[in-house]
Amino acid sequence: MQRSLVLIKPDALERGLAGAIISRLEKTGLKLVAAKMLHLDKTLAQRHYAVHKDKPFFESLVGYITSAPIIALVFEGDKAVELIRKTMGPTDPSKAEAGTIRGDFGLDIEHNSVHGSDSTETATEEIRLFFNEAEIFA
Ligand code: RTP
Ligand code: MG
Repeated sequence: MQRSLVLIKPDALERGLAGAIISRLEKTGLKLVAAKMLHLDKTLAQRHYAVHKDKPFFESLVGYITSAPIIALVFEGDKAVELIRKTMGPTDPSKAEAGTIRGDFGLDIEHNSVHGSDSTETATEEIRLFFNEAEIFA
């Protein structure tokens, strides 16, 4: 059994796509076990995306993800990490197939509507950043 962190990013929330995105993720058969809306501060955004701290897009990414509220979700189930990444599609929406969340909703490589953990290890770390155990309903 795996858990994965999903963030519904500002571009999606602003366009009223939260319900559609949650619905697509629920249709995978994974179980939604935690959810909260929050406006990330710079510190949490930098910690969440720490792996990218030396990338040229880091400052812009932190600015974007802190620009407006997001929704953080935890999904649980077999192969949760892989299933969510497949449902999201690749980072760049222009390269994402129709039927994927990013293919259908993403605007560009930065404003790509969702985040999903990329491994079970990062999922554990990321979930810990956003939720305490009492906020996760297994
Ligand atoms: P995420 O972490 O948000 O799930 O996205 P990802 O694994 O598909 O992509 P990653 O390489 O981890 O990049 C994290 C986020 O940074 C923004 N980005 N901008 N301007 C650019 O070239 C660029 N590349 C990445 C995107 O918002 C991406 O989701
Ligand atoms: Mg990533």
